Amino acid sequence: MALLDVSGVTLRYKTSSAVVTATERVSFTVDKSDRFVLLGPSGCGKSTLLKAVGGYMSPSEGRMTIGDREIRGPGADRMMIFQEFDQLLPWKSVLANVMFPLLTARKLSRKDAEARARAYIEKVGLTRVVDAYPHTLSGGMKQRVAIARGMAMEPDILLMDEPFAALDALTRRTCQDELLQLWSETRFTVLFVTHSIAEAIRIGNRILLLSPHPGRVKAEVVDVDKVGNDDGSAGRLEKEIHDLLFAGEATAH
Ligand SMILES: Nc1ncnc2c1ncn2[C@@H]1O[C@H](COP(=O)(O)OP(=O)(O)O)[C@@H](O)[C@H]1O
Ligand SMILES: [Mg+2]
Repeated sequence: MALLDVSGVTLRYKTSSAVVTATERVSFTVDKSDRFVLLGPSGCGKSTLLKAVGGYMSPSEGRMTIGDREIRGPGADRMMIFQEFDQLLPWKSVLANVMFPLLTARKLSRKDAEARARAYIEKVGLTRVVDAYPHTLSGGMKQRVAIARGMAMEPDILLMDEPFAALDALTRRTCQDELLQLWSETRFTVLFVTHSIAEAIRIGNRILLLSPHPGRVKAEVVDVDKVGNDDGSAGRLEKEIHDLLFAGEATAH
């Protein structure tokens, strides 16, 4: 059985003047240890889908389950990591930021929470700034703290919304490599959103392609891991995905 089952999910925003359909009848399943990527152009509803899986928004149509539980609201079984660098609490140190959800969820005692937090801070290579405050850190370091904080909760699934999109190209590449290294150590499950085809191929073992607004499923690319890492085959897959994403559209992008 799949870990996450999203079935026929339509998500709408109702504003005072209009109803915006962000995604329409989107279905996919994520298995344990998948690095499942939602890929599509800006505005196709990726963040909205992630918000719904996080439990912050209810579908107008369809249903979502994690394990065999219907998703009805936020829970410690799903941890979200955002693109923005300001997701940390500015008045708390790195250690206190990573400990915070562990304490709030009453998952562990203070002593155990600190030990758990220190272990994950070490995993992301930030032990030397464990007592520093967010404003003294670079963007890449802040994102590593956010990842450590999410992972320390040991959720069933990590939800990552373009976590590296605001980083410079070199830092982004390093952060992608580190995420893959962490994955190879613990094989956590991640649902990763990006608008970058190259990033989707680097991160994912499965990639769901979404059409432009409103987001519908165009195709699913499986077994991405089997594609060699040499630039030739990654480049070919990139072209294939590009053609699938924009198939049937009047104008080239
Ligand atoms: N709070 C909101 N109220 C109304 N419309 C929204 C809101 N958030 C997003 N939208 C609309 O929903 C669509 C999908 O947005 P989003 O999920 O942010 O896309 P993506 O993350 O793929 O760029 C867009 O048309 C966007 O304008
Ligand atoms: Mg988004």
